[in-house]
Amino acid sequence: MPNHGIMEIMGRGFRQIMQESPGYFHIGLKYFGYKFFNKKSPIYGSADIINVCNLHCTHCYWWLNRKENEELTVEQWKKIIDEKFKKKHIFIVTLVGGEPTMRMDVIKLFAKEFPKRACVVSNGTFPLEKIKNLYFYWVSIDGTQQVHDSIRGKDAYEKTKKNIIDYIEKNGEKAWKDIWISMTINSQNYKTVNDVIEEWLPIVNKIGFQFHTPFTKGDPLWLPFGPERTKVVDDLIAMRAKYPDSIINPVKQLELMKKNWGGKGTTPVDCPTWAILSVDHLGREKMPCCIGSAEKNSMKPICEECGLGCYSVMVANGMKG
Ligand SMILES: C[S@@+](CC[C@H](N)C(=O)[O-])C[C@H]1O[C@@H](n2cnc3c(N)ncnc32)[C@H](O)[C@@H]1O
Ligand code: SF4
Ligand code: SF4
Repeated sequence: MPNHGIMEIMGRGFRQIMQESPGYFHIGLKYFGYKFFNKKSPIYGSADIINVCNLHCTHCYWWLNRKENEELTVEQWKKIIDEKFKKKHIFIVTLVGGEPTMRMDVIKLFAKEFPKRACVVSNGTFPLEKIKNLYFYWVSIDGTQQVHDSIRGKDAYEKTKKNIIDYIEKNGEKAWKDIWISMTINSQNYKTVNDVIEEWLPIVNKIGFQFHTPFTKGDPLWLPFGPERTKVVDDLIAMRAKYPDSIINPVKQLELMKKNWGGKGTTPVDCPTWAILSVDHLGREKMPCCIGSAEKNSMKPICEECGLGCYSVMVANGMKG
């Protein structure tokens, strides 16, 4: 089991936290403005830095609204960073897609502009490169090998596991800290949660869980509210007690995941959509949230069945829509 060391919060060391104090000042101001004046200013950012993916996973929201488009250049992304993210004092940016590791030029730009404050969500099927000043890689693992491959495609698991292990072996004794696992729980993989934890925690830094969010009523991948889903959450809470430093979801957030915490139909109600500034591959703002779309007639996520981790964790911490 990796040792996390003392004075580390969410993978950030003491010195780093001190260096980042101006950023915390802005977060403090935003939180203060929200708590006392209900002023809503985004704290986090997400950017779909690419409009291409090498996989076609069965559960994926991104393919639902994808249209064939141009990609932005590094210079165009720099403009979006300055005019959208920096102007609004965004603290941490998550790079998604499509598959972001197919645009290493853009990842490097974000890592330079947001040192230790940009993370990449990846399917891990391409070799993972050590990038100066990147915060960390979130690698998506959707169950044990067989079920992961049934969702993500043949041999996906083997490639991803090899790339993670290669990265850790190649990049020095602290490289394991750069890899966090993200699992999206659905009706096909929910029985593999504990096995995923036991398989990956000896290798990587942290694991985070969220639930599949449907875009159509009756989506068979959605794990319905009820006893089975409640048991998955209760088991996760028990695993969290066993691995408190490694499973990142707070208990309060996990409890929320048992039921509707987000909204009504496709309308967000309690969900703090304002807290994450999300842009698509053309730099346009996505609505209502990071899995939505900039286009009006797009398919919409079903808020009342939402399982997204990044927003529910904020609700658990007292932030609302
Ligand atoms: C769209 S992917 C982009 C990054 C990268 N291609 C990957 O798979 O990690 C970002 C994350 O969203 C998750 N995801 C995809 N569809 C989802 C859905 N309908 N509900 C919740 N999470 C979903 C994926 O499993 C992945 O962890
Ligand atoms: S790899 Fe990521 S973006 Fe590509 S289809 Fe799978 S979940 Fe979607
Ligand atoms: S994260 Fe998106 S889908 Fe979920 S409740 Fe919020 S707006 Fe709706």
